[in-house]
Amino acid sequence: RIHSIDALEILDSRGNPTIRVMLVLDGGTGAVTSVPSGASTGQFEAHELRDGPQPDSAPSTQGHTRYGGRGVCRAVANVRDVIAPLLVGQDVRRQAAIDRIMLERDGTGNKAGLGANAILGVSMAVARAAAAAAGISLYASLGGSGARRLPVSMMNVLNGGLHAANGLEFQEFMIVPHGAPTFSEALRYGSETFHALRSLLHEQGHVTSVGDEGGFAPKLAGNETACALIVEAIERAGYRPGPDIAIALDPAASFFGHEGAYRLKVNGTPVTRTSDEMTALYAEWIDRYPIVSLEDGLAEDDWAGFAAQTAKLDGRLQIVGDDIFVTNPAFIERGIREKTANAVLIKLNQIGTVTETIAAVDAARRAGWSYIVSHRSGETEDTFIADFAVAMGGGQIKTGSLCRSERIAKYNRLLEIEHELGSEAEFISPFLHA
Ligand code: PGA
Ligand code: ZN
Repeated sequence: RIHSIDALEILDSRGNPTIRVMLVLDGGTGAVTSVPSGASTGQFEAHELRDGPQPDSAPSTQGHTRYGGRGVCRAVANVRDVIAPLLVGQDVRRQAAIDRIMLERDGTGNKAGLGANAILGVSMAVARAAAAAAGISLYASLGGSGARRLPVSMMNVLNGGLHAANGLEFQEFMIVPHGAPTFSEALRYGSETFHALRSLLHEQGHVTSVGDEGGFAPKLAGNETACALIVEAIERAGYRPGPDIAIALDPAASFFGHEGAYRLKVNGTPVTRTSDEMTALYAEWIDRYPIVSLEDGLAEDDWAGFAAQTAKLDGRLQIVGDDIFVTNPAFIERGIREKTANAVLIKLNQIGTVTETIAAVDAARRAGWSYIVSHRSGETEDTFIADFAVAMGGGQIKTGSLCRSERIAKYNRLLEIEHELGSEAEFISPFLHA
């Protein structure tokens, strides 16, 4: 049973405040969690509570706002003063009941009352404490004894969009080492390719500094150049583009377009494209590059464009909705009815509780959709999503590039899980056609 819950304002990988929750059970078992934060957030994500530019008790000079308004003191206070008194004495094995108590106290549709960051920190801590109390790993506690599938990773090796200031419209160019025999071998394929890409960029006179998710952020001629470079890096590392290592894209199109009008540069020239023209562009690229997955190829408000894209490319491509579904079971159900996509990105902090995130996964699973557990661009050393990906068994994770410890922490945790599972560990490509 819960003895105490406390919270702390800490910093994420971009140096912005986020929330850490410390939960202690009677008997002294404890759990600590940290909440991530996105930059290219979907419009309908659960509300991340930040302090805003209000005057603060800390001595501030005139015109100065604490952390530029991004502090999370109110969320911390909500954990300590509102959520903790409600939950002390609760049995942490009752995750759904505890999440419901917080939702009822919040009383809003989007968790703006207590803050999705406050609620999620506690929800994750409850899951972690339940595992600790049972003396088992988090993936086994959440996923049961059948949880033994290690995820294929989408590794974001070239960053653009809101995650880098290099002028590329598309946000993420990822390598997918799905042809490796095991998770640890896939990690090695990825790392070797990342380093091959570094030397390639270096030789071509590009900077090799990295963006928010650890991918390189060079100023390239255009989005398609990024795909060509990745293929070259895969070959240089000694792998076959396609069967060994495929490509996944997350253009995050909400940030350069809206329904029907996408503004981007093609061969250096600014153009405006319709949804169908964007889909035609992606279709050409699939013929030229070993692309197996396309996330947010269109904007979050472009439900019709998404459905047309899925009608055209289903069977050839994993079409993933991130900003359009925001891990919300109701939006995913609509997507299933309207055949909006064939896969969904799963981010705990888009919806705000462990229970609702599992409901989102269940909705996808029932429809035969794939689902990919994902990090945010603002992360911490917390490795919750590594265990969560194994527990949910979908066989895919998106957790960044092959550098920056907030990304590597998840990969290292997956190595531990693989080691713990031993010969029970499974690693199966979802992209056998590639
Ligand atoms: P975000 O980006 O965490 O900045 O929202 C990740 C994504 O779009 O998948
Ligand atoms: Zn995305």
